[in-house]
Amino acid sequence: MARPVVVVTRRLPAAVEEALAREFEVRLNPEDRPLGASELQEALRCADALLPTVTDRLTAEVLGVEPLRARMIANFGVGFNHIDVEAAKRRGIAVSNTPDVLTDATADLAMTLLLMVARRAGEGERHVRAGAWTGWRPTHMLGRMVSGKTLGLIGMGRIARAVAQRARHGFGMRVLFTDPYPPPPEVVRALGAEPRDGVEAVLEESDFVSLHCPATPETRHLINAERLARMKRTAYLINTARGDVVDEQALVEALRAGRIAGAGLDVYEREPQIAPALLAMENVVLLPHLGSATEETRVAMGMRALENLRLYFAGAPLRDRVA
Ligand code: 8YV
Repeated sequence: MARPVVVVTRRLPAAVEEALAREFEVRLNPEDRPLGASELQEALRCADALLPTVTDRLTAEVLGVEPLRARMIANFGVGFNHIDVEAAKRRGIAVSNTPDVLTDATADLAMTLLLMVARRAGEGERHVRAGAWTGWRPTHMLGRMVSGKTLGLIGMGRIARAVAQRARHGFGMRVLFTDPYPPPPEVVRALGAEPRDGVEAVLEESDFVSLHCPATPETRHLINAERLARMKRTAYLINTARGDVVDEQALVEALRAGRIAGAGLDVYEREPQIAPALLAMENVVLLPHLGSATEETRVAMGMRALENLRLYFAGAPLRDRVA
């Protein structure tokens, strides 16, 4: 029997591409060029499955292609807001993601941003590299303590829990959270976290606010001008979730007006574009969507996507089915 054809939209770690090629008829993207809408449609017309990433916009229009051959989309990543899953369902396309394997890497990166912004690490690095450092002095580049402060988590899924674990047990932080679907009480107890009713309650009490909700129509601009105004003036906003969750323009204005102390961002509303005002702010740490960017994690994500493809084409139930 012919092996299913799988279009892999971006370059993946070599170990993953090799493993995929052993089981499927793979069409790779060695130049790693992002695909446009018509190229994605071409892939849906010619392949049995797609292995896309966050840079592929699989909209209802793209998924509406005729004739449609693809029956499966094995997303490389846990977030799947770039895929119109309802449209995929209507077209009878199964969709899977890669949860679990990137939890620790993303939680580590949230802590990286939190520490960097509070201790002015990006600013300090720029200072040293610019040759501007004239020597130690007691009042030079004072940041804010992280240990012992209050961390507010918006969303308490896998990644937020891993952040809570690090913050509570590694840095002795008090951890607050809000989630419409909170974890079981024993999980909350083990993390030493305290539930709050609603986003505002978390914002008002926290020294650091870290976002861990998916990007959905409901969470679009969840952090807007009014909510930023509810944060303490000394507080920092950390975003490793999705850019859409924050109204980036409102964030720029809040930072400009000193309504919050700073921000640590890994994701943006219009990646890879970033509001130019942010680029000029010293109290903002900006990373290029590195949440899961470790060798180990990207290989694990690829292997998990491969496992989803394998299950689907073996006619077995998908572990990570999202549509
Ligand atoms: C990935 C991510 O880099 O998995 C996610 O949701 O944001 C990142 O870990 C990216 O999505 C890969 O497609």
